[in-house]
Amino acid sequence: MEFKTIIEPFRIKTVEAIRRTTPDERAAALQAAGYNLFLLRAEDVLIDLLTDSGTGAMSSAQWAGMMMGDESYAGARSFYRFETAVQAITGYKHVIPTHQGRAAERILFGAAVGPGEIVPNNTHFDTTRANVEYRGAEARDLLAAEGYRPALIAPFKGDMDLAALEAVLQAEGDKVPLVMITVTNNSGGGQPVSMANVRAVSELCRRYDKPFFIDACRFAENAWFIKTREEGYADKTPLAIAREMFSYADGCTMSAKKDGIANIGGFLALNDDALAQQCRNRLILTEGFPTYGGLAGYDLEAIAVGLHEALEEDYLRYRIRSIEYLGEQITAAGVPIVQPPGGHAIYIDAQAMLPHIPQAEYPAWALSLVLYLVGGVRSVEIGSVMFGLQPDGSERPAQMELVRLAFPRRVYTQSHVDYLVEVIQYVNRMKDGIRGVRIVAQPPVLRHFSARCEPAHGTLFLPADAR
Ligand code: F0G
Repeated sequence: MEFKTIIEPFRIKTVEAIRRTTPDERAAALQAAGYNLFLLRAEDVLIDLLTDSGTGAMSSAQWAGMMMGDESYAGARSFYRFETAVQAITGYKHVIPTHQGRAAERILFGAAVGPGEIVPNNTHFDTTRANVEYRGAEARDLLAAEGYRPALIAPFKGDMDLAALEAVLQAEGDKVPLVMITVTNNSGGGQPVSMANVRAVSELCRRYDKPFFIDACRFAENAWFIKTREEGYADKTPLAIAREMFSYADGCTMSAKKDGIANIGGFLALNDDALAQQCRNRLILTEGFPTYGGLAGYDLEAIAVGLHEALEEDYLRYRIRSIEYLGEQITAAGVPIVQPPGGHAIYIDAQAMLPHIPQAEYPAWALSLVLYLVGGVRSVEIGSVMFGLQPDGSERPAQMELVRLAFPRRVYTQSHVDYLVEVIQYVNRMKDGIRGVRIVAQPPVLRHFSARCEPAHGTLFLPADAR
């Protein structure tokens, strides 16, 4: 007997209340936050889909593991549990804990990337890009063309453009210190990378003698897509698939706040002895001794358990399906999203939904504000506010204007998703009245976290009779 309803594969042992607010309260909160959702108080948010990072619910096994945390400064038992768990999945020789993913990036790039160099990636995540640029190098996105077509339905829209990568390695290879690939491709719609593509990138890197690193934040979700979409993998476990994927690279950076289902933590794992030594030296400078890397012993325990829970089939089936369900419902209502739905998030294509708002007035930012005003839902813009400001201070519109609804792991249930469907449908019906925004104050880098904005036309929404 097969039943079609996929249930949350857990029981809830602890709950946390969420607070309803009125539209007036939300309007006031938004104004006080400078029209920047990052600057809201989380208490003023009903359903928080700002990020899937560090926001997951830990399991009873993780909490039990935390009680076993060994807080010794050096050589703690918890480190060896953590190292064993990471090695069982990645197979890499050196495992260096860090407080989160971007610390792993900073340490790796600090040791391996220099001014004037070029780091290719399918799409750099914003902190990855910032850490490459901080080294004076160029972060070059080489996503295959399919990945730039939001409405196109294809199985692996996170794949690297192999011809473009080869062209860079051929023409400018002396300037490439390493190649990266991000699984799943967060900034490109949470789209997966195929095993065939990882293998092909690996072959190119071997041919041109370049180290190859995986940005592995969502490695388990990517493994699930390979299992369900790529020929030859249906009968393999997510663990076996992940192991194969890691085997093609020389190392990885990881934010354990995603597929480690931990609230904090990350790591850098790699095979090269000399590079690992340089990275550990840098780690000691800013993060901590190499057996804790800025984390508590109990954090290492939570990650060791979480990494393996993230690979459980029942969990992955439920997670990917609940996001797909939201995608199906709003697609049926005519909302343009990046197709097919991503592994950790739905990405609304704000440029397609709000063609009347020019990119210079940040349509995705405006849409994310309206979703909060209407339904108390917090999302995040992945568009020209996030990517438009260039290192030289000039402004260049982003490739896509997306609003990401990212799902914390094991936190929300089916009824939360049904509520979201209603909110998004409502906003879609009033979309012609949505107006753009302007930035009134911004820092020179990573401006989306702290920029202050205002409605460009006096209001975020004009009723029909006032347009
Ligand atoms: N790489 C990718 C692909 C990411 O999505 C993130 C974080 C990082 C690196 C950095 O990891 O936050 O632990 O330092 N992404 C979060 C997000 C913040 O909301 O997508 P971190």
